[in-house]
Amino acid sequence: MLLLVIQIFNKQEPREPERDYSEFSEALERGDIAQVMIQGRVLHGTFQNGDRFRTYEPGDTELVRRLRDKGVKIQAKPEDGASVFKMCRACHDSERNAPARIGTSLWGIVNQRKAARPGFNYSTALRAKGGIWSYRDLADYLNNPRKFAPGTSMTFAGIVSNRRMADLLAYLRTLSDNPAPLPN
Ligand code: HEC
Repeated sequence: MLLLVIQIFNKQEPREPERDYSEFSEALERGDIAQVMIQGRVLHGTFQNGDRFRTYEPGDTELVRRLRDKGVKIQAKPEDGASVFKMCRACHDSERNAPARIGTSLWGIVNQRKAARPGFNYSTALRAKGGIWSYRDLADYLNNPRKFAPGTSMTFAGIVSNRRMADLLAYLRTLSDNPAPLPN
């Protein structure tokens, strides 16, 4: 999934009773998209079950393209993500070169190698994960840290709301001189 909330803009005919929403419903069921909103109203509820979190990778554009063809827009708000990030600040800074506290600074974290900041004492669990912090892995870890990396030393309960997660990921990507491409 990535990022996010899908909004259908239909100025002329706000209700559009005969529109076929089955594709959106199926994508929601599969967890491919976080939420569908029509004229600001949620078409189907967001998922409460964090296990169904999905993140669109930047290359994973097929569904998004089809939705776009139907007049759907995808958006996440980094400025709202900045306030979600406040809860991370108990342990993490966001500035470049900020020293680690309980956790490392998260400057440049998107697409960076996992557990790779020099001098920080990561858990064995996180070290063993390997690979980079893709949007998908960030969403999975931040949704349920102990499920993603059993034994992680990050004592953080996790973010359940898809909307907040999308906003947070959009904010994290801004912590860079060259922000990673957004899935689009
Ligand atoms: C209570 C302290 C605490 C809070 C709150 C917290 N973290 Fe962490 N975080 C840690 C610790 C400790 C680690 C190292 C985990 C390990 O080694 O297993 C970590 C690791 C991480 C990593 C991996 C860093 C790397 O270099 O691979 C990311 C990404 C991360 N946290 C993001 C977040 C975000 C985003 C939030 C807020 C939504 C958050 N954390 C909230 C303590 C915290």
